[in-house]
Amino acid sequence: MDMYEIIKKKRDGNELTSEDIKYFVKNYTKGNIPDYQASALLMAIFFNKMNKAETLNLTNAMLKSGEEIDLSSINGIKVDKHSTGGVGDKTTLVLAPMVAACNLPVAKMSGRGLGHTGGTLDKLESIENFSIDLSKGEFIKNVNDIKLAVAGQTSNIAPADKKLYALRDVTATVDNISLIASSIMSKKLASGSDAIVLDVKVGSGAFMKTLEDAFELAKEMVDIGNGMNRDTMAIISDMDEPLGYAVGNALEVKEAVQTLKGHGPEDLVELCLSLGSRLLLLGKKVKNLEEGRKLLMSKIEDGSAFNKFKQFIKNQGGNVEQIENLDLLPKSNNVMHFKAKKTGYISQMNAEEIGRCALLLGAGRKTIESEIDMSAGIVLNKKKFEKIKKGEIIASLHGNDKDKLKDTLNRLEKIIKISSEKIGEKKIIYGTVD
Ligand code: URA
Repeated sequence: MDMYEIIKKKRDGNELTSEDIKYFVKNYTKGNIPDYQASALLMAIFFNKMNKAETLNLTNAMLKSGEEIDLSSINGIKVDKHSTGGVGDKTTLVLAPMVAACNLPVAKMSGRGLGHTGGTLDKLESIENFSIDLSKGEFIKNVNDIKLAVAGQTSNIAPADKKLYALRDVTATVDNISLIASSIMSKKLASGSDAIVLDVKVGSGAFMKTLEDAFELAKEMVDIGNGMNRDTMAIISDMDEPLGYAVGNALEVKEAVQTLKGHGPEDLVELCLSLGSRLLLLGKKVKNLEEGRKLLMSKIEDGSAFNKFKQFIKNQGGNVEQIENLDLLPKSNNVMHFKAKKTGYISQMNAEEIGRCALLLGAGRKTIESEIDMSAGIVLNKKKFEKIKKGEIIASLHGNDKDKLKDTLNRLEKIIKISSEKIGEKKIIYGTVD
């Protein structure tokens, strides 16, 4: 087999065989294929696309390039949720304890934030001493003991994807549905769960900007999951504005705890119920989605979801006092308010831009090495299409650097727009792929 022939085949619009794909992935990972040939193949794939069989073969080859986590010593059906990334997305912090409180094991490997999107691990680490560094044995023991553990992804999961994603990033070949789907699913499938529910975000703060692309990506990922014998479903959810009101690590932990105690924002609660009822269905804990929603709500109402969260934080070394008394979480020295200059309705609230403002305040990473200010971020007081009066607070900015706070305040003026008429209705879930 020869790389030149493989590139030519795809350039001419022909289908790559499973052998072609295995040869490419194996040898590129080993360093036997130069970046210029791998880039040429990626660009040929970008223009000529891949069919379902090629996408499945690529996913499988990348999945097999590294470690596959064996969760078979955890009793019961193991479920996982994956989000394609967003701003203010603290879903895992709420959903995982809710589902675990229903006695369904959640063995979750999460990532860190980069760019305008936050990461679950960073949010959890705003709680003093919380550790995401669990050995495989500890991870499995925690799930068997309390039905819930969250750990960092080990470095040897799908190394082929790591190398190829980095190459795609610098060769303008990221935005291809098959390449994105196989990249995400190779890592997810290597993490060992039996069933997966995907949260595909759409809108200004998401990878997918149009509904058409979001549905296509969701379908492609669900087909890959089912094609690899894992029960997989997807939801397409809104990321045109941040999820909930809080953006920033400790601020999001606070909102997650309030949600677990029954005082959560409508969009976050609805998303957790939609995702959670699917997890319970795939985990065979309920017979239909309605039953799942009721069971999840009962775990909020009777306090068991909140207790599960506390148990989980304690189990991974975190300071539970900060969860019982939210005032003990990291707090910024300064808070500035962004106020409405006129009366009307919020017409625009670009999620990516708000994510970038939170980053500017210190809530995120500009590069992998950046340090995060756990206390920094933005708390919205109003969301899209809501009525606002002149002088009312639209958002509060939390930070430790006054100059940065002032810069961010100026930036928000250009991002959040007010119109005299209400120009739309908020939608949380755009559709599902079941
Ligand atoms: N996230 C991934 O992990 N891979 C992609 O290709 C795009 C987003």
